[in-house]
Amino acid sequence: MIKPASILLILTAAFIFLSSCTNLHKQEREMNGVTSLRPHSGSIPVLVNKYSSLPPGYKPDDLVFPNVPFLFTEKIEKRMLRKEAASALELLFQEAEKDGIFLAGVSAYRSYEAQQAIFNSYVQAQGIEKAKTFSASPGTSEHETGLAVDISDKDGKCPAVDCFGQTTEAGWLEKHAHTYGFIIRYPKGKEDITGYKYEPWHLRYVGPRIAAEIKERNIALEEYLKAEPVITKSDSK
Ligand code: DAL
Ligand code: ZN
Repeated sequence: MIKPASILLILTAAFIFLSSCTNLHKQEREMNGVTSLRPHSGSIPVLVNKYSSLPPGYKPDDLVFPNVPFLFTEKIEKRMLRKEAASALELLFQEAEKDGIFLAGVSAYRSYEAQQAIFNSYVQAQGIEKAKTFSASPGTSEHETGLAVDISDKDGKCPAVDCFGQTTEAGWLEKHAHTYGFIIRYPKGKEDITGYKYEPWHLRYVGPRIAAEIKERNIALEEYLKAEPVITKSDSK
């Protein structure tokens, strides 16, 4: 026969356990701004956006120099990508050349400090509201994952600027990037989901299977991961 005092003890322990679980979920939700579970920072499909930042001090541990041309010749950090993304980019460039499309990298990996310098310079030049429509604050840029790269035509006619969208190079990327595991991360018409203006030059490596599904369903990475849409202010676009 269980004593009433023991029953009370068991019920109290169960209550404490359940409420700590609930608090944990609440904290996760509050930290990430979303309820869904997320791939971790080092995983290929990681979500990094205005609601989902990288952990402080995050740096990928498998950065390499992809063997593709960039608009600059120096062997510096912003040429680097994570190994898998670098190999995929080499293949993409090779296949593009077979179609007569000659590409160049503009900017790939950025450290937290590099992103901070870029973001601050845009804020100084254009004000914070405008800057936030196209530049990520440090800790929230995909460039810090080593999985994103900005691409231009080989002569850099439109390096990471709007006119790139009208080039044959952008058309080729739109059509073929998914085959090599890349998505156009900030598509036209998805500004209120990604939180950023259309960027036809910003490729994000997610792997061929996910890239194909995202392309096929015409969705953003947030939609694929069932993450909360990042609402933007339409007047600041
Ligand atoms: N331009 C993209 C959003 C970045 O700054 O990472
Ligand atoms: Zn970019």
